[in-house]
Amino acid sequence: MQSLKISLPAVDEVRKIIMDMEIMDMDHRIKPEKDYGYIGITSPVSDEEIEKMKEEVIKVKKVRKLLNGRPLEIEVVDKELELIPRYPHSVREMLQGKLTDQEITDLRNSFDIIGNIVIVEIPNNLLEHKELIGETTLKFTKRKSVYMKKSPIKGVTRVRDIEFICGVNNPVTIHKEQKIRLKLDVSKVYFSPRLTSERKRIREITDDGEKILDMFCGVGPFSIVIASRNKVDITAVDINDVAIDYLKENIRLNKLQGKIHPICGDINKVASEQLEGEKFDRLIMNLPGTAYEFLDTAFSLVAQEGIIHYYEFAHDCNEGRERLERKAAEHGMTVTIERCHKVRSTSPGMWQMVFDCRVHY
Ligand SMILES: C[S@@+](CC[C@H](N)C(=O)[O-])C[C@H]1O[C@@H](n2cnc3c(N)ncnc32)[C@H](O)[C@@H]1O
Repeated sequence: MQSLKISLPAVDEVRKIIMDMEIMDMDHRIKPEKDYGYIGITSPVSDEEIEKMKEEVIKVKKVRKLLNGRPLEIEVVDKELELIPRYPHSVREMLQGKLTDQEITDLRNSFDIIGNIVIVEIPNNLLEHKELIGETTLKFTKRKSVYMKKSPIKGVTRVRDIEFICGVNNPVTIHKEQKIRLKLDVSKVYFSPRLTSERKRIREITDDGEKILDMFCGVGPFSIVIASRNKVDITAVDINDVAIDYLKENIRLNKLQGKIHPICGDINKVASEQLEGEKFDRLIMNLPGTAYEFLDTAFSLVAQEGIIHYYEFAHDCNEGRERLERKAAEHGMTVTIERCHKVRSTSPGMWQMVFDCRVHY
């Protein structure tokens, strides 16, 4: 193959020039060998161009210094260079030639990775290829199992139906994020790896000594992430008994600075029967579809100057802000919305929003 043989001190400068000329062979590695370096080129270079290169490169002080009086050599030679292994960048790329162009376009390019499990979405018109898509996803992600979404997230426990496609049929896995471990069964509990930055954000704004209520805790991602770094006291409630069992296991699995008290039950019932008279500095309401139905409970449990992290699906901040202000007024309180931002996109134009709502009595 055609390459440039270059005096070693000048290799980097020549590389910049031939990149600008768009003739550098990006598929092969640059090879240093004794006093020379070799760079692959994709088009011939004339003697005139080589002379111009030399004129440019010799102007660089560092090159002159390193050459230390030796002549600057640049010449075209025939030299084989090592091919740079090129890994596919997506499942789509790996399926080129195995599916039609239209099928590749229809393919969803995103999937959720939870521990060793990948959850994919396969459009109806591609169901006949689900094994091929599953196997390819398994190879691309290097995980152990691939499951396919069979329904939207639904019901009180917010769990979706899934179908096993390939790999090992075991829906129980350990997911790692923010230096914590969460064990869970993807077929029986809610969990979203897409909220990791939000959990980190809440952990970072939490102070030691806070009393926290995680009203819809699931297997405990918010509670565990927060308690992993803060000396806090967290009451974590969920109606799904399987989620609470995993939360208990997750408390044992992680080294926590804070304490977590898991309670299984409907938060409204738990509030009236077990939390009466208690006040919390921070409340987490991660049930974005229906959290507004639980605002009375939240306002009855929030401490003076406490903060409610209220999540909802919305296009913008307006409706949630009004809802929180109205509900606070009903409780004889006022609120300051210290922050409202998009946490993740759920469908075109629709977002999971978070409101950091400071409550004043
Ligand atoms: C969207 S998930 C969030 C779970 C967890 N916070 C997380 O981020 O993974 C909502 C959770 O609320 C629980 N849930 C729904 N209604 C509830 C209620 N009335 N009382 C307590 N938990 C409830 C569900 O079982 C589910 O685990």
